[in-house]
Amino acid sequence: MAKAVFSRILLKLSGEALAGNQGSGINTDTLQEIALGVKKAHSLGVQIGIVIGGGNIFRGLAASATGMDRASSDYMGMLATCINSLALQDALEKIDLPTRVQTAIAMAEIAEPYIRRKAIRHLEKGRIVIFAAGTGNPYFTTDTAAALRAMEINADVILKATKVDGIYDKDPLKNPNAEKFSNLSYIDVLNKGIQVMDSTAISLCMDNKLPIITFSLKDPNNIARVVCGEKVGTLVK
Ligand code: GTP
Repeated sequence: MAKAVFSRILLKLSGEALAGNQGSGINTDTLQEIALGVKKAHSLGVQIGIVIGGGNIFRGLAASATGMDRASSDYMGMLATCINSLALQDALEKIDLPTRVQTAIAMAEIAEPYIRRKAIRHLEKGRIVIFAAGTGNPYFTTDTAAALRAMEINADVILKATKVDGIYDKDPLKNPNAEKFSNLSYIDVLNKGIQVMDSTAISLCMDNKLPIITFSLKDPNNIARVVCGEKVGTLVK
């Protein structure tokens, strides 16, 4: 049987991933598929923390571009991540994966507050911990929240699940001859302006030597493949 090469991971899912083909909102079938992909990785014995975006419900940056106050729109985006986190918790628990949601903004009636030591304890007990509400601060993306939480829980790696199966030299949707990188340095990502994560998140990972593997979630079994060390997607280190 395949063996996990990591003991603790931080999985970053975009909010859009939950929308499936419907474009926005939460697609129940897609959610179930993702939950099964997480279960497969979990069955390998790896400890899993998850950060989800909120773009399927509300995009803070896009709203501020149309004139809404940036801080207010970012807070709305953070609330959207809480909705997604509760949906994912429900899907995971339906397939018998013990899960805890911790929020960066206190809403104790809905979920636990983020407490680093408690999160680590949950992980040690084999529970999946979903970190909701981003970093709790406007002007920071959920990618930065993922980098921050990954560092705080001493994750071995960030698994960044996206729509594309890695990082290409050109947009693969527009250029059929675009070539995929198997490895890239943080500096390359920053210098080339590659939009795999925002520059704050990349810099945080670079300063703390936290590797990022970006891969496609189109096949949710990819999560387990990456956990087993298969060369799926692009490694940034
Ligand atoms: P252990 O103490 O390791 O057994 O962890 P536990 O999470 O099972 O115990 P705890 O008694 O802390 O939590 C029981 C349940 O209540 C879990 O589903 C938690 O997610 C939930 N819970 C704990 N604290 C809070 C909180 O502040 N707000 C909300 N809404 N739920 C909480």
